[in-house]
Amino acid sequence: MPAACVIGLQWGDEAKGKLVDLLAPDHDCVVRYQGGANAGHTVVCGSEVYKLHHVPSGILHASVMNFITPGVVIEPTTLLGELEGLESRGIDPRKNLMISERAHLVMPWHLAEDQVMNQQSVQGENIGTTLRGIGPCYRDKVGRNFAVRAIDLIRPELPERIAQIVDAKNALLRGMSCDGSGTSAAPQLDAGEIAAKAQRWGEQLGPLIGDTTNRLLDELDAGKRLLMEGAQGSLLDIDHGTYPFVTSSNSSGVGISSGSGVPAKWIRHVIGVAKAYSTRVGGGPFPTELSCETGQKIRDLGREYGTTTGRPRRCGWFDAVAVRYTARLGGVDALALMMMDVLAHFDEIKVCVAYDIDGQRVEQFPCDAATLRRAKPICETHAGWKKDVTGARSLDDLPELAHRYLERIGQLIGVPVKVISVGPDREQTIFVDRQQLLA
Ligand code: IMP
Repeated sequence: MPAACVIGLQWGDEAKGKLVDLLAPDHDCVVRYQGGANAGHTVVCGSEVYKLHHVPSGILHASVMNFITPGVVIEPTTLLGELEGLESRGIDPRKNLMISERAHLVMPWHLAEDQVMNQQSVQGENIGTTLRGIGPCYRDKVGRNFAVRAIDLIRPELPERIAQIVDAKNALLRGMSCDGSGTSAAPQLDAGEIAAKAQRWGEQLGPLIGDTTNRLLDELDAGKRLLMEGAQGSLLDIDHGTYPFVTSSNSSGVGISSGSGVPAKWIRHVIGVAKAYSTRVGGGPFPTELSCETGQKIRDLGREYGTTTGRPRRCGWFDAVAVRYTARLGGVDALALMMMDVLAHFDEIKVCVAYDIDGQRVEQFPCDAATLRRAKPICETHAGWKKDVTGARSLDDLPELAHRYLERIGQLIGVPVKVISVGPDREQTIFVDRQQLLA
């Protein structure tokens, strides 16, 4: 039984969580394989709104087993908060959640390093991280000497290891924060306090920690259906995104296998999720950005404020050059176009079909952020449908002009639109052919 995947095709916040929640009942397992508490996946169920950061979006379905695999970096306090939040609403995530012993932990020093590093600019701009310690944690994972993994929480030598790391990190933080006069405003970490915290994390999370890699391979051998849940978006991928304005994991389709341990041969269906327009949080080039009233209108109508940080998101028109690139990169075979209801309020809707870079028409997404920064969007204009579509439940309920928009997007990306979202609720979703989507 092949695995299906849901990945973001823009700069994150494409509403992947909603789609994963909807598709979860057709699967036995939902697998979160990269990123950490920088992600904010919103699932709306009736009047209840669940905001998840680490916990896979299949958690609301008791029959679905959820996995946090080795590629994820876990901030234990946030994760425990998520579990408590679910428990307080009558959901018992401890019954259907397993955390990989190989997953790395975001420790207090990573949060402190992220604070300090985020004040530095790169290529004249601030990356504007989510301050969740993501970059520093992945850096230590690759560096190995200072890494702490979930399995370490249940090992007796952890306090001693924390003491050694804290010594080194305090020196590092002092150096990073020095103002030239030798004075440092660096936060200093207390090893005893952190070790006590880690002991509590071990007690609370220990029962959920196990070998997700072998368990998932067993599930596949037993013919179980897996749904892989991507976090962030492909344009934030560390290797293939708008580097250095990216996150620190493989958030495009290329990260599925390495992050989960599921061999590529099992990966069949890849659903690429994109908004009907574009958004970005933090720094970095964004060719179709609208720094005008229209951008503000999209932000207001789409409630475009970060789930994790509350920051206003930068908004702009749909960028078909960027999404064509990420759809090809991810091997996407179906598009899910979200937030179509937001575009119902515009007389005209633009779609970027190419860039003008230094006077040349360019249809291929540039690999260099400095080049992308010079890209001016070449847009085509579509007439807006100006009709509320939040009540649409089938393709027939959509106005003709909305159909034309969807068809054109599919044509530009080279992948058909198979899912359309017209609002945050589960029911506000149109599947072109649900059976065929995962067949
Ligand atoms: P980090 O992942 O916190 O290191 O942030 C690196 C960049 O990725 C920043 O521009 C963040 O705003 C962006 N980013 C990280 N996670 C998300 C996400 O889930 N949605 C949107 N942007 C994100």
